[in-house]
Amino acid sequence: MKKNKVFDLKKYLKEKGTFVDKLLKKYLPKDNSIMSQAMRYSVLAGGKRLRPIFVMLGAESFGLDIKKIEPAICSVEFLHTYSLIHDDLPAMDNDDLRRGKPTSHKKFGEAAAILAGDALLTETFNLIAKAKVPADRIVKAIKMFADYSGYKGMIGGQTEDTIEAGKWNKQNISFCKKKLEYIHIHKTSDLIKASLLLGAILAGAKDKDLKALEKYGHNIGIAFQIADDILDVYADKKLLGKNGSDADNDKLTYLRLYGKEQSEKNAIKLIDEAKKAISKFKKNKEVFESLADYMINRKF
Ligand code: IPE
Ligand code: IPE
Ligand code: MG
Ligand code: MG
Ligand code: MG
Repeated sequence: MKKNKVFDLKKYLKEKGTFVDKLLKKYLPKDNSIMSQAMRYSVLAGGKRLRPIFVMLGAESFGLDIKKIEPAICSVEFLHTYSLIHDDLPAMDNDDLRRGKPTSHKKFGEAAAILAGDALLTETFNLIAKAKVPADRIVKAIKMFADYSGYKGMIGGQTEDTIEAGKWNKQNISFCKKKLEYIHIHKTSDLIKASLLLGAILAGAKDKDLKALEKYGHNIGIAFQIADDILDVYADKKLLGKNGSDADNDKLTYLRLYGKEQSEKNAIKLIDEAKKAISKFKKNKEVFESLADYMINRKF
C-alpha cells in the first residue's frame, strides 16, 4: 500500500514566507520619503509572516484564489508590524532590537516610529478594501478586522499589558490569572484569529466554518503567546531577534504566573483544543494541525 506523504511544514513555511515577502515589497510605498523608508524598514526586516500565511490558508481552505486578495494578504502584516513598532517604544516595552535589527525608534527617532506605525495601520484598511471579491464580503471583513485589532481587541490587550506591568504582583492569584487570560487573548490571539477569518470571510465561508476557525485561532493564539513568554526568557536571543524584556518591565506573563512546566502543559492542551475545532474540515487539515504544533514548538 502506498504510504501517505508526511506534510513538510518547514518547506511550506519557507515557500509561503518567500511569497509573502515578494507581495509585501509590491504593496509597500517605493519613494524615498522618511515615512516610506521607515515603513519598509520594519516590514521588510524579517519576521515569520505567520499572519499573512493564515490569511492565505483561510482563503484557500474555502475555495478562493489568493490572486484576488494579494493586498489583503499583506494588510495583516502591515497591522502586525505597526503593533510591534509601537510595542517597542520607550513608553511601552522600551526595546532596542526587533527582528534582529535596531527598533524603528532607535533607527528613525520616536516621532517617525509613531508615525510609521500610524501609517501602516491606516494603510491596512486600504489594502483590505482592494480585494477583488463581492463588496459585502469586504465590508464584513473590515468590520471584523477593526474589532479584533481595536480597543476591544489587540489595543485592549496591549493597554492592560502595559497598565498592569508592575502592579499585578500586589494582587491575588485568581485576579492575576483572569487578567493574564484577557491580555493573552486580546494582545495576541485576536490578531491571529482575525487573520484566519479575513481570508475565510473574503472567500465567503459559511458561519459554521467561521466559528470553527475562530475557535482554532483563539486556542493557537493563546498558546502562541505562552510560547512567546517562555521564549522571552529561554530562547537563543540571536535566533529570536529580540532581547526579551518582560522581567525588566515586570510584565504579567504566563511563565511568571505558572512556571515553565505548567505553561508548557497548558499550551499543549490549547493546541489539542484547536485541533478538535477543525477536525471536521475537509481541506488542509494537516496544514492546520502542523501549524498548530508549530505555534509552541518554534525556537523563535
Ligand atoms: C511577536 O509576533 C509579537 C507577538 C504577538 C508575540 P511574532 O513572533 O509573530 O513576530 P514576527 O512577525 O515573527 O517578527
Ligand atoms: C506584543 O506582545 C503583542 C503586540 C505587539 C500586539 P509582546 O510585547 O510580548 O511582544 P514581543 O515579545 O515584544 O514581540
Ligand atoms: Mg508588549
Ligand atoms: Mg514587547
Ligand atoms: Mg513577548
